[in-house]
Amino acid sequence: MCGIVAYLGHREACPIILKGLRRLEYRGYDSAGVALLNGNLSVYKKKGKVADLEGFLAGKNTHATIGMGHTRWATHGEPNDVNAHPHYSTSERIAIIHNGIIENYAALKTHLEKQGHKFQSDTDTEVFVNLIEDIQTNNHCSLEEAVRLALHEVVGAYAIVVLSKDAPDQLIAARKGSPLVIGIGEGEFFVASDATPIIEYTNEVVYVNDYELAVIKGGQLAIRSREDVVQTPYIQRLELELDSIEKGGYEHFMLKEIFEQPRSILDSMRGRLEMGGSHLNMAGFRAYEQKFVNAQRIIIVACGTSWHAGLVAEYLIEDLARIPVEVEYASEFRYRNPIISERDIVIAISQSGETADTLAALELAKSKGATIFGICNVVGSSIARATDAGAYTHAGPEIGVASTKAFTAQVTVLTLLAMCIGQRRGTISDVKLRELVIELHNIPSKVEKALKLDAEIQAIAETFKDVPNFLYLGRGYNFPVALEGALKLKEISYIHAEGYPAAEMKHGPIALIDENMPVVVIATKDSSYEKVVSNIQEVKARKGRIIAVVTEGDTTIPAMAEFVIEVPHTSEVLVPLVSVIPLQLLSYHIAVMRGCNVDQPRNLAKSVTVE
Ligand code: G6P
Repeated sequence: MCGIVAYLGHREACPIILKGLRRLEYRGYDSAGVALLNGNLSVYKKKGKVADLEGFLAGKNTHATIGMGHTRWATHGEPNDVNAHPHYSTSERIAIIHNGIIENYAALKTHLEKQGHKFQSDTDTEVFVNLIEDIQTNNHCSLEEAVRLALHEVVGAYAIVVLSKDAPDQLIAARKGSPLVIGIGEGEFFVASDATPIIEYTNEVVYVNDYELAVIKGGQLAIRSREDVVQTPYIQRLELELDSIEKGGYEHFMLKEIFEQPRSILDSMRGRLEMGGSHLNMAGFRAYEQKFVNAQRIIIVACGTSWHAGLVAEYLIEDLARIPVEVEYASEFRYRNPIISERDIVIAISQSGETADTLAALELAKSKGATIFGICNVVGSSIARATDAGAYTHAGPEIGVASTKAFTAQVTVLTLLAMCIGQRRGTISDVKLRELVIELHNIPSKVEKALKLDAEIQAIAETFKDVPNFLYLGRGYNFPVALEGALKLKEISYIHAEGYPAAEMKHGPIALIDENMPVVVIATKDSSYEKVVSNIQEVKARKGRIIAVVTEGDTTIPAMAEFVIEVPHTSEVLVPLVSVIPLQLLSYHIAVMRGCNVDQPRNLAKSVTVE
């Protein structure tokens, strides 16, 4: 949510910043801006995408070797030129970029207005930069000291970069709650919300921790705590490949990521299971296996698509490991005064590892003594670092805002986790375990086969691209898939879509069904198959237009449905990994046909770092 990038070194800063902003656009894209320090401190900003900013900069003198940029997802104030970042202080001698929310900005603003500060925008960020200026003026201190003191005054979340005309060789960054990483090159430094703008220049990075302040000047990086104690930067080597953050010939990141799933599922299993045997190897689980054995309950906290993966995990863990599971929206859980004990295990699922509500929910559970297990995709992310143990999903960078390969990678890892717990608790037989291991190995090729349905699904998309509503139905393991299918469609095509448990349809949604309503039914051959067939009859009796996802070779449902999508057969507990694929493709094609920007849908951001 908002992307920030900054550069200090010997090259032209502006092109590096703009390229970095394009990489961070998944975090927000309603306006963008840059500040360049070259004797003057110049700010250029524009409503719209980074491309609009680039157009605006054409012909301007952007020569500078120090600068910073921002791509925004609006929190305070509508998206327009004035509310775009960077923001100047009143004197225009200091500028700031900010990702996060300053909760006490109203009180600070009133105070600062009394001191004579003038505000142009509706943002909380402009308050932050004026606070720094106010402190510097009143205390006659350095910029670094003023920023440090300001961090004591603000309440909320931030990753900031600050430049000042009076400190022409210096760049200051700080974080609390929003991600911030510094790349260290040969006599040059890069600051960004994640490593994607940095990776093509250097793979040596330092992740800034909460309440730390980084000062880059004179070819040196110094990190201090908010209490002014010197911290030793921990330099890490990144393994991110540049190819993995580019489109590689696909029209959209989303399509590339859908097609990457055979590989990303395999990568999420790699080294964790042994073919033909029943040996599972999850390092994060091993360290806490006794806790899992004795757990009285598992609580899963997550948001969005990760929450849907959590629902699949509820079925998996209760089925295979016989531990009661509750799946919670992180945002509700944290404000509900939940009952948590030391024998509870809380699993936080997050692709980005930065979702503010998920992070806050796990912190709450931690404070009540629960063991926290994280399932994250982004290595070194805040959630990954805040957990006691965990397992990475290894899906590779996911850039399309609509999550696809992260979902299947999460479900893969959660399946392995459920199997590990079940094995250790003796709730799953060796025979069953071996069967699942074999079938897990088959999943990438079955997903590959499901992807071959692309052209068929495109034709179905053509038929339904103009409808205003969609209903998705599923039972058992396919109920979370129905929710996920509906979410994919609404977020990128703006068609209203609802996911429902197929049987529950009778208690409301059935009233919506008429000859204009497309109903996607996920009806693979599993224990609830017969029941789903009855549900399809109920839809058909009301003239609903049925698009059925069925198991290859099914002869019953094709006689009832208008469209049939056949996916390969797999074990019931693994079915979501295969049945979700056609739904991802259907939403993708419908969105493209409707002329929507699938990688950057309106109002959304990939990483939601505000609550
Ligand atoms: C946003 C994204 C979703 C994602 C959700 C949770 O809403 O647009 O795609 O599922 O956040 O994100 P996380 O990174 O915690 O999985």
